[in-house]
Parts: sequence; C-alpha cells; structure tokens
Amino acid sequence: MLTSKIENPQMFEEWIAALETRHLADLRLQEVTRALRALSAAYVGRRGTGVRGTLDSAGKRAAFALFYAPLHFLAAHLVVRALGAEAPPPRTIVDIGCGTGAAAAAWALASGGAPSVAGIDRHPWAVAEANWTYRRLGLRGRARQGDVARLPPLAAGSAAIAAYVLNELPEPVRTRVEARLMDAAARGTRVLIIEPIARRVSPWWEQVASRMEAAGGRTDEWRFAVDLPEALERLDRAAGLDHRELTARSLYCPGRAG
Ligand SMILES: C[S@@+](CC[C@H](N)C(=O)[O-])C[C@H]1O[C@@H](n2cnc3c(N)ncnc32)[C@H](O)[C@@H]1O
Repeated sequence: MLTSKIENPQMFEEWIAALETRHLADLRLQEVTRALRALSAAYVGRRGTGVRGTLDSAGKRAAFALFYAPLHFLAAHLVVRALGAEAPPPRTIVDIGCGTGAAAAAWALASGGAPSVAGIDRHPWAVAEANWTYRRLGLRGRARQGDVARLPPLAAGSAAIAAYVLNELPEPVRTRVEARLMDAAARGTRVLIIEPIARRVSPWWEQVASRMEAAGGRTDEWRFAVDLPEALERLDRAAGLDHRELTARSLYCPGRAG
C-alpha cells in the first residue's frame, strides 16, 4: 500500500478527502473526469515548449488540484525520501512554480513538518490553493504571486524545489532559473528538480544534468509501484489513465548540510 510508505498517511488521506469536498462542490465528477482527459492529452502532446491553457477552466483547475497535485505530492515525497533529502530538515523550502503547493508540502512533511514553505506561482488561483494546502497540511509558510523569471536570491540553509515546472518555461526564462538554482546550490542550498520522464518534454535535460553533476549533484530516473488511494484510482480509471506506477526523473544538488 503506497500510503504506508509516506510519512503521515492519515494526513494525506484527509487532504484527498478535503480536496474532493472542495473541488466537487460546484462540479460533477463527470465534468472533472472530462477535464482530466483534456489536461492529460495536453500534457502528453507537449513538445518541450510547455503546455498552454492547463488552468484555463474550472474543470481543468479542479482536475489538476484533485488528481495531478496529489500525484506530484506522492512523487516528490518518494523522490525526497529515496534521495535522503529530508534530513536534516531544511529551514525553508522555496517552491518554484508551486501550483497548488504539493511538492514543497511533500518535502516539508517528509522532513517531519519542521520546514516552512514559500511558494511562488504566477497564477492567482494556484497561489490561493497553495495557501489552502499549507494550512490543511499543518505547515508554516505562504505562497505568493510572482513570476519565476524574477526569482529572489535563495538563502543558504534553505532548499528549493522546481517540480513539473521548468518544462513550462520559455527557454530564456528556464535558463535564468537554472542559473539561479546552480548559483544557490553552489552556496549551500539543496536544489531538487523533478520532471516527467518523457524526453521530449524537457529536451534540455541532459545538458542541465551534466552541469548539475559537475557541481556535485546527481540525476536519477524513478519508477515507484504505487497503490493509489481509492479516490485517485477512481479518477485514474475513469479518465482512461494508468498510474499504478509513478515515474519521474530528478536532478538533485545536496548543498551543504544544515
Ligand atoms: C504543472 S504545474 C506544477 C505545479 C507544482 N509544482 C506541482 O508539482 O504540482 C506548473 C505551475 O507552474 C506555474 N508557472 C508556469 N510558468 C510560471 C512562471 N513564469 N512564473 C511562475 N509560475 C509559473 C503555473 O502557473 C503552474 O501552476
């Protein structure tokens, strides 16, 4: 059972239940399933140039929050644990393109809930959802609206995560964010990048991986056999998807301990 592998399975299950209540209040499950199909098709069809319009309807926003965000939470949690990135707990985890807050929340909870989280996203809906997620999961910190093209300097002793976001950025912005992350890693920030495994989604991957490895980082591909909670499994099946295995790849610079 997947949930036995995560730090606080009960909190995770309660978060999923709260997400259902929140996002199915004004939409029928059928509408969310239809939107989930559209969202998945957009993700599958992208070609390293990002994916437009993912949050442009209430149905897609609900599908993202209810389905993809918990999957990203699980992937981030499992990757963090596999890398041993949870200890010692970072003071702060900056979540670049935080969406609904799942990735930094997963890292913070893997670290025992001690780190505070600081989400940045340009979409106001995502910012509001991330703040709800942090409160719901009992975490300190907040998300704010901002463009990652103007990322503030990252403090030593902090950690930064960019989960499923670099592939959405135009190349000049992605390059700037990468430079900021490399610079932060060199000054001791733990940096974790997570992306889908499909190579066409992030054609820049190999080059960034060599630069990260040269800077003392590591790159991994992950396949986790999972048994999704009932609510997620139901959506997965209804949308014609199959997430019995979660896959992801990651770039990780451990920074200095502390
Ligand atoms: C696929 S979602 C991933 C969200 C989250 N990291 C996760 O793992 O669930 C990508 C997010 O990046 C945000 N985003 C894309 N470009 C951005 C930019 N230039 N500045 C800030 N956020 C951005 C989008 O609004 C969206 O919420």
